[in-house]
Amino acid sequence: MKDLSGKHIVLGLTGGIACYKSAELCRLLIKAGASVQVVMTAAAEQFITPVTMQALSQRPVALSQWDAREANNMAHINLSRNADACLIAPASADFMAKLAHGQADDLLSLLCLARPLERTPLLLAPAMNREMWQHPATRRNLDQVIRDGACMLGVGSGEQACGETGDGRMMEPDEILQELIAFFQPKVLAGQKVLVTAGPTYEPIDPVRGITNLSSGKMGFAIARAAREAGAEVTLVAGPVSLTTPQGVHRIDVRSALNMHAAVMQQASTASIFIATAAVADWRPASAAEQKIKKDGSGNAPELQFVENPDILATLAQSERGQSRALYCVGFAAESHDLQAHAQAKRLRKGVPLLVGNIGPQAFGQDENTLLLVDEQGCNELARDSKLSLARQLIANIASRLSTGA
Ligand code: C5P
Repeated sequence: MKDLSGKHIVLGLTGGIACYKSAELCRLLIKAGASVQVVMTAAAEQFITPVTMQALSQRPVALSQWDAREANNMAHINLSRNADACLIAPASADFMAKLAHGQADDLLSLLCLARPLERTPLLLAPAMNREMWQHPATRRNLDQVIRDGACMLGVGSGEQACGETGDGRMMEPDEILQELIAFFQPKVLAGQKVLVTAGPTYEPIDPVRGITNLSSGKMGFAIARAAREAGAEVTLVAGPVSLTTPQGVHRIDVRSALNMHAAVMQQASTASIFIATAAVADWRPASAAEQKIKKDGSGNAPELQFVENPDILATLAQSERGQSRALYCVGFAAESHDLQAHAQAKRLRKGVPLLVGNIGPQAFGQDENTLLLVDEQGCNELARDSKLSLARQLIANIASRLSTGA
C-alpha cells in the first residue's frame, strides 16, 4: 500500500518558472500511488509543454473549458467532482488574485470555483519573485483565499531564478509530496506538542575520538514525521545522524548525552508527549582530553574512566508532569533476546506508561522493524513493516491512549 494509493489528484500548473519542478512533482505523485490529472493555464504552457506532463501523468492534459471532446462539454464539473484534492503547483500571484475574486475565465480557475468546498480541498504551493510575494496585494489575496477554505502549503526561501534571494520559491517537489501525504492523515494529535529524541549520542574521548553506537535515527525520525502528519507541533532532538529533517518538524541537533539532556529539559516544560527513541550512551569518559591522546610506545593503552550519563527518560517520567501524565512519556528498549520480559522490566524501572520494545540487531539501520508495545495490561505486537508505517500505528495508539486516559 503506497502513501497515495487510491487518491486522485488534479495537479494545476499556472505561469511560473517553477513549472519545471512540477514535472518531478507529477512523477513523485504517481510513484506514491496517486492518479494524476494535469490541468495547465495558457501561461503555464509558456514554461513547460503539455507533452511532458501528459507523458508523466499518462493522461491527456486538460487545457481548455471549450474542449469539445468532453461529452457534456463541462470539463470544470467533471474534473472537480472526482478529485480527492486540487493541488496548484506552482500557484502564481496572478492565479491567487483570480481565486481571491472568484474569477473563472480559464479552465483551472473555473474548476477551483466549481469544486464542492466540503469534498474537494484546494492546496496551494505558491511560486513567485520575492517582491511579488511580499506585495500587500498578494498578502491580501492569499489571506482571502485561505479564508475561503484553501490550504497554503508554504513557500521556500533562497536563490530565485531572477537572481534575487528571498521568500517565494516554490517548495521542492518532495516537500510538496510530504505535505500532501500529511494532509490525508487523520489529525489524531491536533493541539499536542510532541518532543522526540532520536539517533545515537557521541561521547568524546579526545578531539578526534569518541564512543557512539549503531542507532541510525530512522525510527525516531519516522515517529517525528508521523506525529506531525497527525497534526502535532513536533520538536526533534537528534544525535549525530545524516537524515533529512521531516517536513514541518523543528529539529535541534546535539552530540553528547549531556547536550541531549540539556536540549530536552529546555523543551519539556511545554511538551505534552515525550517519545524517547534515542540510543543514549549510558556512560561517558569522565573527562575528554583537550589534545589527541598519542601512543607513547610502551604498548600500554590509556586507562579511561567513565561516569554515568543522566537518564533523560526516567528523569522526565518521574517528574511531576510525567507522573500526572501532563507529559505522556513513551520509552524504547532495544534488546537482543527475551524482549517481552526485558521490556516490561524496563517500563517499570523507567516509570513510563508505555514502553516500545524492539530487537536491536533487527532494527538498527534498517528501513523495517517490528515493535512490541508493553503497558500495564500486557503487550501487543505491531508486525514487521516499514518504520514509517509502524510510526503511524504507534502515534494512533498513543492518541487513543490519551483520549481514553489509558
Ligand atoms: O536504559 P536504556 O538505555 O536501555 O533505556 C532505553 C530508553 O531510555 C530509551 O527510550 C532511551 O531513549 C531512554 N534513555 C534516556 N536517557 C538515557 C538512557 C536511555 O532517555 N541516558
